[in-house]
Amino acid sequence: MPAGVYLLSHAVGCRPRHLPELEAFLQAWQSQPAGWDAWLALLEDFCDAIATLLHAAAATDVCPQTNVSAAVSKIVGALPQRRGRYVLLASELDFPSVIYVLRQAERLGYTLKLLPADGTGTSLATWTEHLTDNVQLALVTHGFYGTGALSDVAAITAQARRRGVTTVVDVAQSAGLVPIDVAAWDADFVVGSCVKWLCGGPGAGFLWANPAHVAQYEPMDVGWFSHADPFAFDARNFRYVGNARRFWGGTPSVLPFAGAIAGLRCIQELGVAAIRAHSQQLTGQLLTAAAQHGWSSPTPTAAAERGGTVVLQTAQPARLLQHLRIGDIIADARQGFGVRLSPHIYNSSADIAHTIDCLATAPGLL
Ligand SMILES: Cc1ncc(COP(=O)(O)O)c(C=O)c1O
Repeated sequence: MPAGVYLLSHAVGCRPRHLPELEAFLQAWQSQPAGWDAWLALLEDFCDAIATLLHAAAATDVCPQTNVSAAVSKIVGALPQRRGRYVLLASELDFPSVIYVLRQAERLGYTLKLLPADGTGTSLATWTEHLTDNVQLALVTHGFYGTGALSDVAAITAQARRRGVTTVVDVAQSAGLVPIDVAAWDADFVVGSCVKWLCGGPGAGFLWANPAHVAQYEPMDVGWFSHADPFAFDARNFRYVGNARRFWGGTPSVLPFAGAIAGLRCIQELGVAAIRAHSQQLTGQLLTAAAQHGWSSPTPTAAAERGGTVVLQTAQPARLLQHLRIGDIIADARQGFGVRLSPHIYNSSADIAHTIDCLATAPGLL
């Protein structure tokens, strides 16, 4: 653990002490330079761990990706042409990188419509109003990076399914923190990464594709690992593999996934339900103090409606962060939202009590 009170898990989760798969990767590289058997087995273990985390039916419903933006980009390039459906929907509270991807899709003839924030997120009522017959795709963020609110994903995806809209759920701020059951959501795609709450480091993203619907999506961005038989080496015939792996591409990256498995195993052993309960207790402790001191926060007070981040509004984020740093508290701030504080399983109630004491001695900053 870094020294001090680490409250940055919304950005980068802490590194597990032991990384045996990373060592195995390096070992295979040294002992058998074309160590693909071991490396592909490792990638299979990664997909298996993500499938378990998401309650997916099979590891083949999961495809490794570099990050969330790359996954969304590939999905946009895979959408079937459907007459009259030219609108892409997202929330103005989504992570900007994902919005950048959807904005680029306007070059393909789509129109991006950003739904307004109403309260701490974009509500089901707003989604329902906009999920109309001209919508091709809806990007639904489970946990918002700037407010700490959770979306009611199941209700939104159910509406979208009824209206024939493809759904992509971004779980970057919830995977490893909030229990996820992809079967209950019935989305078309779920995309995330391991760098935050899954404590897996950067570069190990993932895409889950609904096996009941994946066949209609044909990514532009492919490679031999998207092929039904990568080792056919038949340059004249490309056939998509019939599952999420069609979103894979060329020779797979292995290193980030080798690094990510240890974090996934830790999270699995601890149990996402236990992590969620601990997180709700600590974020509740922060929000109770905020109410007592009159600090303003956009984060929902109802535990079920928030993820793992408590945001405190301040006109002087840089000064507040500096004040926290002197108290050995590591946090960050986001433009337009405030200072973000994200306790994880490795934080204690005493950490939060210390953070509250420190915030209480920051006169005029909150
Ligand atoms: C909700 C959400 N989505 C996505 C990302 C990151 O996207 P990418 O993996 O493309 O960098 C973040 C990062 O903070 C996020 O908070």
